[in-house]
Amino acid sequence: MKIDVTNISYKQLTPDYIPELLEIQEETFAHATGSSDFLRRNTTETLSVCFPAPSLVLGAYYEGRMIAFGILHAAGTTSENLAKDIDEVEDVTENANVKLIIVRPDYRGNGLQRALIIKLGEHAKECGFKWLSSTVSPENPWSKNNLEACGFTLNKVLKKYGGLERYLFVKKIG
Ligand SMILES: CC(C)(COP(=O)(O)OP(=O)(O)OC[C@H]1O[C@@H](n2cnc3c(N)ncnc32)[C@H](O)[C@@H]1OP(=O)(O)O)[C@@H](O)C(=O)NCCC(=O)NCCS
Repeated sequence: MKIDVTNISYKQLTPDYIPELLEIQEETFAHATGSSDFLRRNTTETLSVCFPAPSLVLGAYYEGRMIAFGILHAAGTTSENLAKDIDEVEDVTENANVKLIIVRPDYRGNGLQRALIIKLGEHAKECGFKWLSSTVSPENPWSKNNLEACGFTLNKVLKKYGGLERYLFVKKIG
């Protein structure tokens, strides 16, 4: 449904919200038609590492309800850091992953993914990161369009998360 996006407020979330984030993720899988390969199934473990600064988890609220969320993950030197696959990034700690953005099915089509990418990118820039990266499934043209609209470019196609095909997108921000 189309909503008045000027009435959306954004809030930094704490690990207390993990059950709600997982519930929104499950709602997304339940709503999807066809294969579930379009999204990596996050767990309490894969989400909990995304809360300590400079990582950021943002919830978007409308009429008192979380309708979307976005996660920026500063993955440091861990294998989660997508820059490990990007030749142009010499120091992977200068990269932050745009790890996960979900908009509840009823609220899609209001440009919320783009709004969240912009907010996460502003935070990354303020924190001194020089690169943003993100993976997208070939089955997710909406995310691909939104990343491109936000200035990301395709770096390569690779297999991630146990063999799923993913487009790796990158943006230089510093
Ligand atoms: C990808 C996603 C975040 C985009 O949501 P969004 O920001 O609301 O999308 P947009 O506002 O850019 O939508 C543009 C158009 O595509 C449509 N659209 C967006 N996502 C869609 C989807 N999953 N299925 C069908 N249509 C979709 C919108 O309804 C809108 O149509 P309209 O122009 O006729 O109104 C959302 O589809 C989603 O949460 N998907 C599941 C999770 C996911 O794959 N996340 C990305 C990987 S991290």
